[in-house]
Amino acid sequence: MKLAILGGPGAGKGTQAKILCGYLEIPCVDMGQILRRAIASGTELGRQAEPYVEKGELVPDEILIQFVRDRLLEPDVSNGWLLDGYPRTAFQAEELDFLLEDLGQKLRWAIYLNVSDDVLMTRSLKRSRADDTPQIIRRRIEVFHQRTVPILEYYEPRGHLLDINGDHPPEQVSQDILDVLVRQ
Ligand code: AP5
Repeated sequence: MKLAILGGPGAGKGTQAKILCGYLEIPCVDMGQILRRAIASGTELGRQAEPYVEKGELVPDEILIQFVRDRLLEPDVSNGWLLDGYPRTAFQAEELDFLLEDLGQKLRWAIYLNVSDDVLMTRSLKRSRADDTPQIIRRRIEVFHQRTVPILEYYEPRGHLLDINGDHPPEQVSQDILDVLVRQ
């Protein structure tokens, strides 16, 4: 099963990714965590990403597209994967499809965790990461509407969009997703 999970900051992507990857026994590629770890350890990817992540901006497409291309060629993801927080722009979504075509693979679902901006803000503020200040979260929510919401229109007509109410308790959200995944 090849899945992507989309949503604003604090929508519950990481929470649901962990549950789904455990249940489906597939590896999770968590883009935010990869970038944060790369920044903390000062790798080349981290140095490139840091100025964007610390302001709540998106890391430039070309950096992440290349990263995902390399990551999906690794052996642990040959039988399935879940991308957490990728794609986040129309360009990333298109490039992912080109890459998957090259690899003879197909994305099954882009799971969208649909949550209001107020809930995104409240949940994100409960955490204490360096990029979870009110000002940066506000910017991440803005960027989410400008750059990520439009890609729902890319997936919807292709029959890949799974729009899920993310404002229920985590267990119910995963149940709602799994109900669709196992029905297919
Ligand atoms: P990333 O780490 O992905 O940040 P984000 O999208 O802002 O998402 P979060 O990790 O903040 O939230 P989440 O949706 O995973 O929610 P969580 O499960 O933790 O990315 C960080 C940065 O990296 C970006 O700002 C950008 O700069 C860069 N980046 C990443 N991907 C990129 C890309 N593709 N292109 C360019 N740049 C990129 O839950 C949040 C909280 O809510 C938790 O406390 C949780 O316990 C709680 N919670 C979760 N679900 C529920 C529920 N159903 N009910 C109640 N509480 C819940």
